[in-house]
Amino acid sequence: MELNNQSEWVTRSLRSVWHPCTQMQHHETVPLIAVKRGQGAWLYDHEGRRYLDAISSWWVNLFGHANPRINAALKDQLDTLEHAMLAGFTHEPVIELSEKLSALTGGVLGHSFYASDGASAVEIALKMSFHSWRNHGKTAKQEFVCLKGSYHGETIGALAVTDVALFKDAYGPLLRASQTVMSPDARQARDGETAEDMARRAAADVERLFQQKADKIAAIIIEPLVQCATGMAMHDPLYLQLVRALCDRYSVHLILDEIAVGCGRTGTFFACEQAGVWPDFVCLSKGISGGSLPLSLVMTRDDIYQAFYSNDITRGFLHSHSYTGNPLACRAALATLQIFEEDDVLAANRVKSAKLTAALQPLAQHAKVRNFRNRGMIWAFDAIDAAPDFSRRFFATAVQHELLMRPIGATVYLMPPYILDDDEIAGLAANTLAVFDQVMAG
Ligand SMILES: Cc1ncc(COP(=O)(O)O)c(C=O)c1O
Repeated sequence: MELNNQSEWVTRSLRSVWHPCTQMQHHETVPLIAVKRGQGAWLYDHEGRRYLDAISSWWVNLFGHANPRINAALKDQLDTLEHAMLAGFTHEPVIELSEKLSALTGGVLGHSFYASDGASAVEIALKMSFHSWRNHGKTAKQEFVCLKGSYHGETIGALAVTDVALFKDAYGPLLRASQTVMSPDARQARDGETAEDMARRAAADVERLFQQKADKIAAIIIEPLVQCATGMAMHDPLYLQLVRALCDRYSVHLILDEIAVGCGRTGTFFACEQAGVWPDFVCLSKGISGGSLPLSLVMTRDDIYQAFYSNDITRGFLHSHSYTGNPLACRAALATLQIFEEDDVLAANRVKSAKLTAALQPLAQHAKVRNFRNRGMIWAFDAIDAAPDFSRRFFATAVQHELLMRPIGATVYLMPPYILDDDEIAGLAANTLAVFDQVMAG
């Protein structure tokens, strides 16, 4: 049945859909928006109201909704091969994607293993790290290290290396203990300390732990440059260089979770390029399919791949998901990479980033704002003396100003698609300021 009425769709959704990351009762006061269609940077509801998707629908949508180039590739793929299992079979999209991704690392990360969601990629990286040590006879290396304020997803293994009490505490009894080290978050620099000093202090914390028990540690997992989900905590690239060196010295794997920060989000295709280091494992998801289909993957070095290569089946990596390497999702990723190449997206983003940073200056200078920060296509600032319901009120006010934004606690952030034009940049900055002023006025 065709329904045009926004409130009817909302009612039906609340009756039958359990929405993610939501206390459902909050929808008694916070609006649920039924989206009818998307076009470019905008989402449209059933009554024709529009919302600028300033957070790329949870950081996935790089080149706008209903992107014609990604859609054309998908339509072609749909008529060719929609899916085939990847054990015992292979296909063009997964081969070409793996080759292209490897080339983007200069061949350092030579093999890619596929899944669908970010958390699954994290699970895979953790299991692969542990299992490769095991295959080398280092069976004591069973522990993982994560950073204070880390976020790596919601499945049991990923949650074990996540440090967000709100998501984690209820499931404490189910989770394996992990080691948590200091975050290099530049906001925590002491008086007189630079972001680089903060990176050194945080790396020293890693070294203390490695000195004590590197023989028991399989890997450290890090969101490079920006810890997104706990409030866009940014750190100096030096931290990654220092931790890479420690991982080499103490024989610990470095897993970089680039699920949120990869695919150009921080200014380079991989965030770790800004530190001039490669990890042992990199996790990608979200933007890799341009926001069109669920796809995640783990890339790793050939020496780690070789640790599993044997005629003994138990030395192999027997992990699988039914949709591993789905051809449609891989084809969407190939179309996404093609847009990066053809449009020189990283260079174009540098211009857009400077424009939006300039347009946001009234917020950067605002008396109620601290820690205005930017890296690549991520902007964030912290509201001073924000009320406990700041985030929910901000969201509700933003939709009245044609904006989709969801602050994290008192941190307002922008992570827009890479296709904003000058008018959209100006409108986004002006509306963010208007919403902020309205919410702070109470
Ligand atoms: C850094 C990071 N890792 C992992 C995840 C989990 O990805 P997914 O939600 O696709 O499972 C996220 C999601 O926000 C993330 O930001």
